[in-house]
Amino acid sequence: MTKETKDFSKYFDFSGAKIISEDEQGKKIRIGGRDIHIMSEPNYRQEKQRGKEEVRVLYDQAVPEELRSLGNGKHYLIYTYGCQMNEHDTEVMKGMFEQMGYTATEDRNEADVILLNTCAIRENAEDKVFGELGHLKHLKTEKPGLILGVCGCMSQEESVVGRILQKHAFVDLIFGTHNIHRLPQLLSDALFSKEMVVEVWSKEGDIIENLPKKREGMRAWVNIMYGCDKFCTYCIVPYTRGKERSRRPEDVIAEVRELARQGYKEITLLGQNVNAYGKDFEDISYRFGDLMADIQKIAIPRIRFTTSHPRDFDDHLIEVLGRRGNLVEHIHLPVQSGSTEILKRMSRKYTRESYLELVRKIKAVIPDVVLTSDIIVGFPGETEEQFEDTLSLVREVGYDSAYTFIYSPRAGTPAAGMEDNVPMEVKKQRLRRLNDLIGELSRERNEQLRGQIVEVLVEGESKNNADVLSGRTRTNKLVHIEGPKEWIGQFIQVRVTEAQTWYIKAEPVHQQTAEAVS
Ligand code: SAH
Ligand code: SF4
Ligand code: F3S
Repeated sequence: MTKETKDFSKYFDFSGAKIISEDEQGKKIRIGGRDIHIMSEPNYRQEKQRGKEEVRVLYDQAVPEELRSLGNGKHYLIYTYGCQMNEHDTEVMKGMFEQMGYTATEDRNEADVILLNTCAIRENAEDKVFGELGHLKHLKTEKPGLILGVCGCMSQEESVVGRILQKHAFVDLIFGTHNIHRLPQLLSDALFSKEMVVEVWSKEGDIIENLPKKREGMRAWVNIMYGCDKFCTYCIVPYTRGKERSRRPEDVIAEVRELARQGYKEITLLGQNVNAYGKDFEDISYRFGDLMADIQKIAIPRIRFTTSHPRDFDDHLIEVLGRRGNLVEHIHLPVQSGSTEILKRMSRKYTRESYLELVRKIKAVIPDVVLTSDIIVGFPGETEEQFEDTLSLVREVGYDSAYTFIYSPRAGTPAAGMEDNVPMEVKKQRLRRLNDLIGELSRERNEQLRGQIVEVLVEGESKNNADVLSGRTRTNKLVHIEGPKEWIGQFIQVRVTEAQTWYIKAEPVHQQTAEAVS
């Protein structure tokens, strides 16, 4: 673990900053009367490197005994932005807060600690966080004892940390994605020292097992790997999440078994690129297909995974998914663009043709598979023709839905330096055209389900109407049904009666409920 410290002078004018001390514990500086203890800072150069250092798996990093009553009588609140990885990190942090004696609250006025678990994927994600910090400043003024922390992917960015030190010095704590397990110590440092505490490791650390997790509901996330080595030219994740590190199969399987024992109905295996699972093992030959084959034998009704990169999707995995059982017929397979030239500049390492060939192979084994995607429009220099290649690919694959984004330049990534001659208005139009097409396809696909019987896991009351229950099919489609609240948490068989663009309506086939068999 490297704990290099460095100054931010290249990003900000620190003429007002005074260095108080500097030693192996980091450095202490004072900016405008605010004392700041920088234990370690993010460093783009280090985040880019992929060292050969061995990744250790640590099993004994629980909350230290002396900090287990730190939060007695106090409340915590975490705001989470970004992907499932962040949502799951929040569950780990909640687990640690509760082991420290804190109680959860939804009311920011009641909170003694507020954390922002941030996302750096696009500029608008970052804008939201800075906007929220602006609101929280007032709260902090009214309640100086409140501890305000920023963690997650934005903390891994040099420019973000620099901006907080300069402009949002009321923040008490900044820590990175590799430092989550250090939350108890960092929080107690911030509480007792009254300084702003900054600890962001730029090098991915070890894999920390056995951290407490506070899960809610009937569906659970399980990390199978951390980090990403793909370095798609537009993406910041490889910098904020470090190199690919797979959890040991026995640890993943033990966690899934325990969740099955606790009665969870659905598990989503998480990784930025789950198909790269196991590539980093030196002592065993065990890949994602092997893991799925082993997990298929565990008595949990539904297993999902996200996200899979088209590049590492091998035949063995397709064969294993074809065995079905608890492995559902839905694959999120982001394509990003339908133009081979753009894919090349994105460094996705596959072509339009090889993607379509992969889709063909998957459909041959799982004919009723539901495919969903992530798509970027307006990548630097994208021509009308290249954009139309995306539209035609979307049609050809026949996605059931897709997340679509306008390209957002991220500092430090190769694409941010590419010449971009596509006006924003054109990018917005392309997004609208793409969304119209996806909406149309989605409705068509839902229409095809009319009259069919599908299995639904009932999750709760519908967001907009408490008289309606909502749930998901194996293919992850949102379903609305009328029925008693006792169905929540149960699998029921329903007949599809109506298709909308983003959900389907259905009626129960039998009055009694039926547990899914795995
Ligand atoms: N690991 C996943 C995606 C993680 S990020 C994968 O490779 O599929 C989720 C999505 O955000 C990406 O699939 C991409 O479509 C989008 N995205 C990432 N960086 C972006 C950027 N700079 N601008 C716009 N969209 C971006
Ligand atoms: Fe980003 Fe590409 Fe890695 Fe996905 S695979 S997280 S898009 S670099
Ligand atoms: Fe965002 Fe980090 Fe996830 S940048 S999308 S929270 S990995």
